[in-house]
Amino acid sequence: MLEGRKILLGVTGGIAAYKAAVIIRLLVKEGAEVKVVMTPLAKEFITPLTLATLSRNPVISDFFDPEDGRWNSHISLGLWADLYLIAPATANSIGKMAAGIADNLLLTTYLSARCPVFLAPAMDMDMLAHPATISNIERLKSFGNHIIEPDTGELASGLDGKGRMAEPEVIVRELREFLSKKKTGEQPLKGRRVLINAGPTVEPIDPVRYISNYSSGRMGIALAEAAAAMGADVTLVLGPVSIKPRSGAITIVPVTTAAEMKEATVAAFSTCDIAILAAAVADFTPEHRHETKVKRGDDDMVIRLKPTDDIAACLGKMKRKGQLLAGFALETDNELENAKGKLRRKNLDLIILNSLKDQGAGFGHHTNRVTIIDSNDNIDKFELKTKDEVALDILKKIISLIR
Ligand code: CTP
Repeated sequence: MLEGRKILLGVTGGIAAYKAAVIIRLLVKEGAEVKVVMTPLAKEFITPLTLATLSRNPVISDFFDPEDGRWNSHISLGLWADLYLIAPATANSIGKMAAGIADNLLLTTYLSARCPVFLAPAMDMDMLAHPATISNIERLKSFGNHIIEPDTGELASGLDGKGRMAEPEVIVRELREFLSKKKTGEQPLKGRRVLINAGPTVEPIDPVRYISNYSSGRMGIALAEAAAAMGADVTLVLGPVSIKPRSGAITIVPVTTAAEMKEATVAAFSTCDIAILAAAVADFTPEHRHETKVKRGDDDMVIRLKPTDDIAACLGKMKRKGQLLAGFALETDNELENAKGKLRRKNLDLIILNSLKDQGAGFGHHTNRVTIIDSNDNIDKFELKTKDEVALDILKKIISLIR
C-alpha cells in the first residue's frame, strides 16, 4: 500500500526511539522508500547504524559531514519526502517545533518541509498533561500537522498513564490511510452504513464468574477503522475488550452478553447497508445466573448451559434486498466445508474463514490468514497478513460485490 512512497522519518531522543527500527521495517516491507534524520540525543537511544541498515539509506543528523565538510541539505530532504513522520516526538522537540526553533537538522527539515507532517508524541504522562505540552501540540495541529495520539499504559518511568508512543503498526496504518486517501481521493464506502460486531461475549455464572472466549476484538476493530477510513458511517457493537478503535468517527455500542450483542446488532441492522459479524458470540450461556457467589462445596459443580440465539442466522432471515451480510467462520477442521455450510445456513453473502491450524491466525494475534468465500462459491485465499491488511482485503471484496 505504501509502494514507492518516500517517507522521511525523524527520530528524536526518547526511550521510544528503539521502536523507530520497527517502524522502518514495516514501511520498507510495504514498499516505501525511507530516509532517516535523527537528533543528536536520539543516537544515544538507538544507533544510526541500525536505522541505516534497516532503511537502506545513510542516516543523517549533522548539518555537515565533519570528515569532508559535505553539507546535508535539509531543504532537499524536505522536498524529497512525500511525508515526514517524527516518531518518537519528545516534549522538547514538540516545544521547539511549536516555537519555530531550528537548532538541529531534524528541526530545520521540519521548518522547510512542504509535505504533510505526522508526529507521534512519546513522553511521561505528566509531561504530556502539562499545559505547555498541550498548548504546543494544539499549536502544531493549528499549523496543519497531524498528531498520532499516544497510548495509555506502562511508561519508561514505571508509572502508568498516557504518553506511550502509539504502536508502530498503528503509526504505519495512519500513514497508509492518509496516503491512500490522498492518492485516490476516493472514499468507496462514502454514504454507506456499515454495522460491525466484534469481540467476545461474557456470560455470567454468578456475580464473580463467567464463561467467555479468547477473542481480542482486533479483527473487528481493524474492519471498523478501515471502513471509516473509506468514508462509511460505522457502528461497532463491541463486546468486552481491552482495545478500542482510535478513530473518533466510529459509533461504539458496548455490550457484554450474547443476548445484549443480539439486541444491539439486530437494532442497528435494519438501517445498515453492510453488516460484518466478527464477534465471537458465546454459543451457550448458563441457564441460571446465581444472584450471589456460588460457594465451594465437596460436590461437583454442575452448570447447565442453554444455547444462545444465532445472531447471524437471525439477520440472515431479516436481510432485505440490497443489504450485504458477511460472517466469519473459525474452524479447526474440515474448514472449507464447514464454512460453506455456515454461509448457506445463515444466509450470508460471504464468509471469512480463519483456521486455528494456521500459525499466526485467529485469537490474540496481530496477524490473520483468511479465505473469503462468497455465495457463488468463489474462493479467494490470502497470505498471512496484519489484521489491518486483512480488513482491507475483506472490504475490497465487499465493495466488489455491492457495485
Ligand atoms: N455467530 C452469531 N451468533 C452466535 C454464534 C455465531 O452471530 N450465537 C456468528 C459469528 O459472529 C460468525 C458466524 O456466526 O460470524 C460463525 O461463527 P462460528 O463461531 O464460526 O460458528 P457457529 O455458528 O457458532 O458454529 P460452531 O461453533 O458449531 O462452529
